[in-house]
Amino acid sequence: MSCCDQAPLRLALSITGQNKMAGCGSWVFFLTVCAVSLLGANAEIKFTIPVGKLFTYELLRETFQNDFEPLSKLYAERWYDDPMIFKCNLQNFPDLPEWLRFTQRHPLDNGFLYGTPTSPGKSVIEIYAFNNRSYDTTRQILVIKVIAEKMLPYQAEFFIKLREIEKVLPSPVQDEIQQDLQKLWNTEALEIVNISNALDRGGRVPLPLAGHFEGVYVKVGSEKYFSNCLLKVLTSEHQKQCSSGARVKVPGGCNFCSIPSNCITWCKTELFDLTKQEPAPPAPTMGSGIVEAGGDFDPPESPPSRDFFPDYIVTVIVPLILAIILCILLAYIMFGRREGVEKRNARTNQIQLYHHHTIHGNADELRSMAGTRGVPPPLSTLPMFNSRTGEGAPQLQSDSPNIPLIMAQHDPYSDTLPRK
Ligand SMILES: *[C@@H]1O[C@H](CO)[C@@H](O)[C@H](O)[C@H]1NC(C)=O
Repeated sequence: MSCCDQAPLRLALSITGQNKMAGCGSWVFFLTVCAVSLLGANAEIKFTIPVGKLFTYELLRETFQNDFEPLSKLYAERWYDDPMIFKCNLQNFPDLPEWLRFTQRHPLDNGFLYGTPTSPGKSVIEIYAFNNRSYDTTRQILVIKVIAEKMLPYQAEFFIKLREIEKVLPSPVQDEIQQDLQKLWNTEALEIVNISNALDRGGRVPLPLAGHFEGVYVKVGSEKYFSNCLLKVLTSEHQKQCSSGARVKVPGGCNFCSIPSNCITWCKTELFDLTKQEPAPPAPTMGSGIVEAGGDFDPPESPPSRDFFPDYIVTVIVPLILAIILCILLAYIMFGRREGVEKRNARTNQIQLYHHHTIHGNADELRSMAGTRGVPPPLSTLPMFNSRTGEGAPQLQSDSPNIPLIMAQHDPYSDTLPRK
C-alpha cells in the first residue's frame, strides 16, 4: 500500500520492537511511554485511495495487543497472543460503508478490511478490538479518502477455486496472483480491481474437509486490450465446451499459474470491455408539477346491467332444494320406519324382557333414593316377601338359571314367569 500514511505507527511499533534488545531499565521505559503516547496520539490512520481499485487493510493483532498491554512485554516478560475479535463501522453509523467489507476467520487470525470504492468521498472507519482473554477493548480510527480516477477500460474477472478470501488478501499473495495474471494478459500494467468471496456471490459453504475451499473472485483491470489468450474466452468453441459441463483446462500456452492453489477456473473467466458500454439513458426531464389544462372531465360509461337470476338459482335455490330433500329423507328414515316398542316387546323372549325391566326398576329406585333422604331401604335388601301380603316368599327349590333369584311381586311381568 504505497499511499498509506502509517509511518508514525510503524515507528512506534519498531521502537517497542527494539526495546527488548536494548534491555536497560528506565531508558527503555521512557521510550515505551513515548511509543505508547505516540500510538495513542496517532490512533488515526489515513489512507488516500483512488476509485475503482482494490483497498486492503490488515488488522494486525500484534498492533492491538500492544494497545492492550503496552508494558507487559517489558515487565511481565510475557508476551500474550490473545484471541481478539474486531468490530468495524463507519463513524456514527452501525455498519461499514457499502463498498467496504470486513472478514476475520478466527479470533486468533488477523482481520481484513477490503473493498473497492465506487465513488469519491471520505469515510471515517472505527475499529474496535475486543480482547477475548482480558475483555479489554481498544479503538482505532481509519480515515479513508477516496479520490476520483478513471476506471480501467478493460477488466477481467477470474475465479480461484482453491482459495479463501483471508488467504488471498495478504499482499504477498495478491502479488503472486497478479503476476500470474500479468503473464496471461501479457502486460505489466495490470491492477487488481476487486476481490470478493464466492460466498458473497451465491457460492455454497464448502464441506469441512481438506481440499474444499470457498473460492475467490479476483477482478483485474488494465489500459491495454485483452491478450489473445483472454480473447479465447469469447469464442463460441469455449462457450460450447464450458456449457457441456466438462472440466475445461486453460488452453495450451495460456496456463501461467505457478502455484497450484492460485490457478484459475477457466470456464468462470469473464471479460468486461467498459469502452463498449452504452451511455446511461438521459435523466427524465422534470415538469412544472402542474397538470396541463385540458377539456372537461368525461366520466366513463357505466357498464351494462347484468341478469343475476340464473346465478341466484344455481347458488341459492338448488342447494336449498337439495337440503330439503335430504331433510325429508332423513326424517322418513328416523321416524317413519321405526317398528314400535309394543311390536318389539312381543317378539322378545320373556325372561330377557323381565331382566330388562328389573334393571330399569332398580335404576329408578336408586335414582329416587339419591333424590331424598329417609326413604325406605331398597327392596332387594329385604328378605323375600310378598309386597302385597307381607308374607315371606317360599324358598326356591331349584337353582335353575332361568329363574331370577329376586322376584319383585309388583312387577307387571312377574305373572308371565314360570313358578314352582
Ligand atoms: C466487488 O465485488 C463485490 C462482490 O461481488 C460487489 O458487490 C462490488 O460491487 C464489486 N465492486 C466493484 C467496484 O466492482
